[in-house]
Amino acid sequence: MEKTLVILKPCTVQRGLMGEIINRFERKGLRLAGMKMVWLSDETLSEHYAHLKEKSFFQRVKDAMRTCPVVICCWEGLEAIRVVREMAGKTNGRNAAPGTIRGDYSMSVQENIVHASDSPETAEIELKRFFDESEIYDYPLNNLWSFYANDEI
Ligand code: TYD
Repeated sequence: MEKTLVILKPCTVQRGLMGEIINRFERKGLRLAGMKMVWLSDETLSEHYAHLKEKSFFQRVKDAMRTCPVVICCWEGLEAIRVVREMAGKTNGRNAAPGTIRGDYSMSVQENIVHASDSPETAEIELKRFFDESEIYDYPLNNLWSFYANDEI
């Protein structure tokens, strides 16, 4: 099973959408392996958004991410990284397809509800960045047969 990182951004916290977004991942059939609220630092965000450091909006995006605490989640499932990324939708909420999280809840490129890891390599690095090993729980789902066929898992 794959694990992936999701951050519920400050806009999601402020708009009272945390429960709704978490509910989407639960309903999809992903297992919540870890979750916490964190007030991120500029230093951590510089690392997290290092791929954007040459962009004009780098500082703006980092500042927006530390206007209030965020909720950091680790979701697990078969091909969870791709599945969650597709559930998030295109970066710009105005271009994201209806039915995706950003497509349903966002009108903005920056205030776009969630961050989701974009590849297995990124997911591994990001999970280590935001979680201690002891904060990720490997409890079994007692009814896994309701989520997957025997030969899928
Ligand atoms: P990026 O990693 O390109 O997108 P994604 O979150 O879909 O993986 O960008 C990170 C965040 O930076 C993005 O969620 C919102 C913000 N951003 C802007 O504000 N303006 C932009 O033009 C882009 C590309 C991103």
